[in-house]
Amino acid sequence: MVIISVINYKGGVGKTTVTANLAAELAYRGKNILTIDLDPQASLTFSFITVDDWRKNYENSKTIKNWYDAFIDKDTELNLNSLIARPSRVNSGRGNLDLICSHLALINVDLELATRLIGGTERDLRNNYLRVHSRLRFGLESLEEEYDYILIDCPPNFNIVTKTAVTASDYLLVPTKPDYLSTLGIEQLGKHVGELVKSYNKYVDDSDDSEWERINPEIVGILFTMIQIRNRSPISAQQPYIQQVRRLNMPILGTMIRENKTIYADAPEYGVPVVLRRVSGQTYKDVQSELENLTTEILNMVTP
Ligand SMILES: Nc1ncnc2c1ncn2[C@@H]1O[C@H](COP(=O)(O)OP(=O)(O)O)[C@@H](O)[C@H]1O
Ligand SMILES: [Mg+2]
Repeated sequence: MVIISVINYKGGVGKTTVTANLAAELAYRGKNILTIDLDPQASLTFSFITVDDWRKNYENSKTIKNWYDAFIDKDTELNLNSLIARPSRVNSGRGNLDLICSHLALINVDLELATRLIGGTERDLRNNYLRVHSRLRFGLESLEEEYDYILIDCPPNFNIVTKTAVTASDYLLVPTKPDYLSTLGIEQLGKHVGELVKSYNKYVDDSDDSEWERINPEIVGILFTMIQIRNRSPISAQQPYIQQVRRLNMPILGTMIRENKTIYADAPEYGVPVVLRRVSGQTYKDVQSELENLTTEILNMVTP
């Protein structure tokens, strides 16, 4: 089971679009996939199920927020298995695509988790830190279903919920737009991930409890999205930002995702990720083949 978080501080860089398409293509190729929507904006949730379905069947008791709440309020385990949805409209391939829904009130969970970090003695602090941060990691270990890949769509911040995703992950995939603000945040993200891993592993080393294990989430790559192509390469206005990211010495994926507002904007309405749509026309084919190439490239890098 490989766990990949799709992460960037910036909103609107294509995290959810990439998560949905990658998950759909992997399932289409026969893999067993779980997606988890950790963004309170719930865009991934509503890419796969309708708002009505969510209201009726998930909102009250079957979202990832309810699962964090159980831990905060009652110190109990609500089993992640009981939250899993299998959205019919994206399950046409040979594999399976499951979803754990988000909730708009997930935003409040961060504050409450923060209060859980407080402790009297150094030992309490350490145990609380490890317990809170490894919450999702342990939750995923207890899943009954054998998934090939778990894809976590992160919110655009580095709050505690996001940190629980990083702590649980084998790999981080970082979509970014080639513009000033999006590329600025990447270096910061790299630093913050490094700091989290260092603190977590130090607490693990200091602890005499063998329950804890060191973590090592690896950046599988920066993925450029919303590239404007002219004459087969990114337009000159975007080149400096691509170069700037290259200088950061972080891995960059060979595949780039082009901008196509018309094709991508339709997604929620159709209810099927771009990569799975049956359409004709060269523009569509170009867009879809990028998503297929992305899937192949990632599969080659993260095979279990
Ligand atoms: N390659 C693309 N070209 C054009 N529009 C895109 C592309 N990828 C995503 N979008 C659109 O941009 C907006 C933000 O994308 P989204 O995946 O929700 O970003 P994030 O999850 O990082 O906030 C959405 O409206 C989406 O449809
Ligand atoms: Mg999103």
